[in-house]
Amino acid sequence: MKRITNTLKATVAVFALGTGMAVAEDVEVLHWWTSGGEAAALNVLKQDLEAQGIGWQDMPVAGGGGEQAMTVLRARVTAGDAPTAVQALGFDILDWGAQGALANLNDLAAQEGWDEVVPEALQAFAKYDGKWISAPVNVHSTNWVWANKAVLDANGIAIPTNWDEFVSAVETLAAAGVTPIAHGGQAWQDATVFDAVAMGAGGPDFYKAAFIDLDEAALGSDTMKEAFDRMAFIRAHVDENFSGRDWNLATAMVINGEAGFQMMGDWAKGEFLNAGKVPGEDFLCFRFPGTQDQVTFNADQFMMFDQGGSVSAEQAALASAILSPSFQIAFNKVKGSVPARTDVAGDELDACGQQGMADLASAASSGNLFGSMAHGHAAPASVKNAIYDVVTAHFNGEYDSETAVAELVDAVSIAK
Ligand code: GAL
Repeated sequence: MKRITNTLKATVAVFALGTGMAVAEDVEVLHWWTSGGEAAALNVLKQDLEAQGIGWQDMPVAGGGGEQAMTVLRARVTAGDAPTAVQALGFDILDWGAQGALANLNDLAAQEGWDEVVPEALQAFAKYDGKWISAPVNVHSTNWVWANKAVLDANGIAIPTNWDEFVSAVETLAAAGVTPIAHGGQAWQDATVFDAVAMGAGGPDFYKAAFIDLDEAALGSDTMKEAFDRMAFIRAHVDENFSGRDWNLATAMVINGEAGFQMMGDWAKGEFLNAGKVPGEDFLCFRFPGTQDQVTFNADQFMMFDQGGSVSAEQAALASAILSPSFQIAFNKVKGSVPARTDVAGDELDACGQQGMADLASAASSGNLFGSMAHGHAAPASVKNAIYDVVTAHFNGEYDSETAVAELVDAVSIAK
């Protein structure tokens, strides 16, 4: 069958060459969506393209948060072999834009009115120098907690609304012999938790000063020390096998009732759904206690690498498919994120998705929407990695909180 398809494609290509017509080629897509829930969501995109006669060449690079994917990408570009389209986040997109490596999507964006429907906060990472350089797929946010409802009910635990209530819920689970917190000890996961913990400890002005403005006083403050102390409490309530665990395996612990909570972005919801679980019945989603009015977001986008000339027909078709309202709903329902357009209704989303959309809108209008530090939307990669190193070293007991604060100030000042 594959042979027949290839022969057919070759015939079409020869014909097209003869007539000067564009040929539909495969798109090669580099991404890190390899967990069960992520792969299910990616399938929605693959099928959408296949329905348009565009083949999909999959280039998955496992590793939550995309660090490994970005390393592979750099090697491919250096070798002069950039993939057609690449999943990327925040400052990494702007970085490739600044290097002039990305195709200009302005014609398509104008034709489809992206300026009017994509929220400002996302445009800030999708455009470089007035040019659209990537297609936003979704909006995720990192300050969520995922809980096993039966475990909470069995232990008489209500959804905690502030840090003290969270501490007592965690201690109740520990006393009952349940792992309170499911976590994977990888730098990006430690940092994802830190996003929410720092926001909870210091509030939105502190979060912005520390991670977006990189203000030395905020980075070196007592509030930052409090955030590290809270991380130490969390570290004391994960199971002993946490080190190196993939995020989706931590989610599985909550799904299976082995653990009570996981602090993770809303891609975790994709795992619950993929396991047939229902929000409100089997699992609960709520904002990290003390961050109910804030959202720390990250948006997945697909950058289109310049293949030497203008945007190819396949790249345009991919970008157009990604931005289409029907795809935005179909995809984000499965992925756990919310649409990257402001003009699509959320009524097809489940309760967590609807809350996600409402939180995003209200945080945007009250000035409480901030880029996630952990997922590359607060500061460039060099700074992000410097923060990762300190957060992880502290989480693993190498630094006490006071030392971590001092190291953070130094690391950020060297990296920025
Ligand atoms: C994030 C990405 C999400 C999710 C997660 C775990 O950086 O934005 O889409 O896939 O990593 O892999």
